[in-house]
Amino acid sequence: MTFEFKNILRMFAVVALLAGGMTSVAHAEDDDDDEHIATVSNAKWKTECGSCHVAFPPRLLPASSWKTMMSGLDKHFGTDASLDAATSREIGNFLQKHAGSGKRATSEKPNLRITETRWFIREHDEVPNATWKNTQVKSAANCAACHLQAEKGDYSERNIRIPK
Ligand code: HEC
Ligand code: HEC
Repeated sequence: MTFEFKNILRMFAVVALLAGGMTSVAHAEDDDDDEHIATVSNAKWKTECGSCHVAFPPRLLPASSWKTMMSGLDKHFGTDASLDAATSREIGNFLQKHAGSGKRATSEKPNLRITETRWFIREHDEVPNATWKNTQVKSAANCAACHLQAEKGDYSERNIRIPK
C-alpha cells in the first residue's frame, strides 16, 4: 500500500467517524459471526471491566492494544481503572488470549478504541450523525444504548434499537 493511499484511508476513517451517518456504503464484507463475538467470558473481566461501561468483547481489539491498555489502567481514558497486579494479570491474559486478529481488529495505528477501528466505523456507517450526540447515547462507546443485550455480549441485529 502506498503512503498516499494509507493517508487517504485514514482520512476517510476520520471523516466517517465524525460524520457518523454518511449512509449506506454496502455491508458486503461483513459476514463474520458478529452475534457470537462475546461468547468467551471471565468472571473478573466481567466485574472489573464491566462496571463503568459494558465489558467490551476481547475480539474487538488486537492483543497489542489490550496489552497496552492493561499496562496503563491508572490513566484509562481520563479515569483511574487500576487493579491489583494479580487481577490485572488474569484479565490481561484473558483479553490477549481471545483478542481479535485480521480485519475486525485492525486500525491504521496502534489503537485503544474499538470505536476507531475501520471495522466499527464501517459497521456503523448507517447510524445518523445526530444519533451519536443523542443524550441517551452520548458516546459511541456506550454500546448498550443501542445494543439492548450488549451486557450479555449479544450484538445481533434483532436486538438493536436506536434511541429517538
Ligand atoms: C472507572 C471506570 C472504568 C473502568 C473500571 C474501566 N473503564 Fe474502560 N473506559 C472508561 C471510560 C470513561 C472510557 C471512555 C468512554 C467514552 O469515550 O465514552 C473507557 C473506554 C474504554 C475502551 C474504549 C471504548 C471505545 O471507545 O472503543 C475500552 C476498550 C475499555 N474502556 C476497556 C476497558 C477494560 C478492558 C477494562 C478493565 C480492565 C475497563 N475498560 C475498565 C472507564 C472505565
Ligand atoms: C447509536 C447506536 C449504536 C451504538 C452506540 C453502537 N452500535 Fe453497534 N450497531 C448499531 C447499528 C445501527 C448497527 C447496524 C446493524 C445492521 O447492520 O443492520 C450496529 C452493528 C453492530 C455490530 C454488527 C451486528 C450484526 O449482527 O451485524 C456489532 C458487532 C456492533 N454493532 C457492536 C457494537 C459495539 C461493540 C458498540 C460499542 C463499543 C456499539 N456497537 C455501539 C448501532 C449502535
